Amino acid sequence: MYFVHTTLLALAAVLPAALSFTPGFPYGTQKVRGVNLGGWLVLEPWITPSIFDNTGDSSIVDEWTFCQYQDYNTALGVLQNHWNTWITESDIAAIAAAGLNHIRIPIGYWAFEVGPGEPYIQGQLPYLQNAVQWASTYGLHVIVDLHGAPGSQNGYDNSGHRMSYPTWQSNQTNIQRTDDIIKTIASMFAGQENVVPIIAPLNEPAGYIGSSMMDPLQQYYLDSYGNIRYPYRTSQQGNTVEMIHDAFQPLSYWNGWETPPNFSGVMMDTHIYQVFSDADVEMTEQQHISAACQTQSTLSNFDLWLAVGEWSPAITDCATYLNGRGIGARYDGTYPGSTYVGSCNGWTGSASTFSSSYKTFLRQFWEAQVISYEKADGWLMWTWKAENADEWSYQAGLANGWIPQDPTNLEYPTICG
Ligand SMILES: *[C@@H]1O[C@H](CO)[C@@H](O)[C@H](O)[C@H]1NC(C)=O
Ligand SMILES: *[C@@H]1O[C@H](CO)[C@@H](O)[C@H](O)[C@H]1NC(C)=O
Repeated sequence: MYFVHTTLLALAAVLPAALSFTPGFPYGTQKVRGVNLGGWLVLEPWITPSIFDNTGDSSIVDEWTFCQYQDYNTALGVLQNHWNTWITESDIAAIAAAGLNHIRIPIGYWAFEVGPGEPYIQGQLPYLQNAVQWASTYGLHVIVDLHGAPGSQNGYDNSGHRMSYPTWQSNQTNIQRTDDIIKTIASMFAGQENVVPIIAPLNEPAGYIGSSMMDPLQQYYLDSYGNIRYPYRTSQQGNTVEMIHDAFQPLSYWNGWETPPNFSGVMMDTHIYQVFSDADVEMTEQQHISAACQTQSTLSNFDLWLAVGEWSPAITDCATYLNGRGIGARYDGTYPGSTYVGSCNGWTGSASTFSSSYKTFLRQFWEAQVISYEKADGWLMWTWKAENADEWSYQAGLANGWIPQDPTNLEYPTICG
């Protein structure tokens, strides 16, 4: 593996191939404006709490246990119904009509292969392929995002398998399986770069655990570069962009990483949330807006293409199961070790319960983030829809007026000063 990719990189350095590289979207010239299709092909308890509540089993906390602790046919039926209904062609049409140009589609490794002893149920892949077809019809570009890797790269439920410590990085078999899946994805969409211009080889690896993650991850990113940028498995370079997540490291950590002239077609992905710490949920509305505006200086100074691939106008962690099924919220003090800031009433759930001042704030905070993230190469909000957490929903934002039908139509263009 290592031999193969260094050979490809050496070729990349000597051949003029990099000069003819034409991505499927003019990154760096036009802004990425997009939304994630969260909770569809990878279940997330907070996005679809009913799917978990309906099991009547509190030990079901993620897609792994959803498949493990239920009869196969029961679980399969629920999953198939969900895949068929959560995102349909009309969602893709609505996303395009909202002036967006990209969708990011999370998918788990188990859509491609399931190892011995792994309970995952398959069937997601045709839905990904359908969505790509629809995206093509409506002129949207797709980022295929590997959201869950064997062993879990972060232990979050959104990796498919909630666990106290990730194990992807400590097992070469896990990593090799992930390499093979990236090759499969790259081959699947090779030649369709206009519809699938970007492959993201791993979502949110837990870089904060240290070199035990960062060392294998860096090698994996280099191998993925070969697998994504050379999707024909020859020395022929393709036009697909590799989008790497910053692994929760500061952008400065990555200075000089996979940069020209030895590399081309790499984009950095950073995720910005203001709800996952006590300090975050204690901020005032004005402080949230200022924090968004203050990201501009670092976002505008990076040596790769850079997108904010996940962010949200939410300012509390009140959405049911946001921190995991059965786990409470920092905001109302029900999360272990947290301190009460305020009641969750009125901050989550249906927009019909939101005050008009909250909705005005959501618009301001949304605009402050869009303005700021367009100092980089663009953004993809998390997420298109959620069953019962409208503050996180692009669809609800459009319906209730805190997200404009045209994302360039700002009411507060000077909110960052
Ligand atoms: C490594 O992961 C594979 C699955 O990817 C598993 O079959 C194997 O038992 C793991 N090895 C160790 C030492 O944990
Ligand atoms: C680029 O590749 C060449 C040839 O392999 C190598 O000598 C050089 O150090 C590389 N440059 C960087 C910045 O890594």
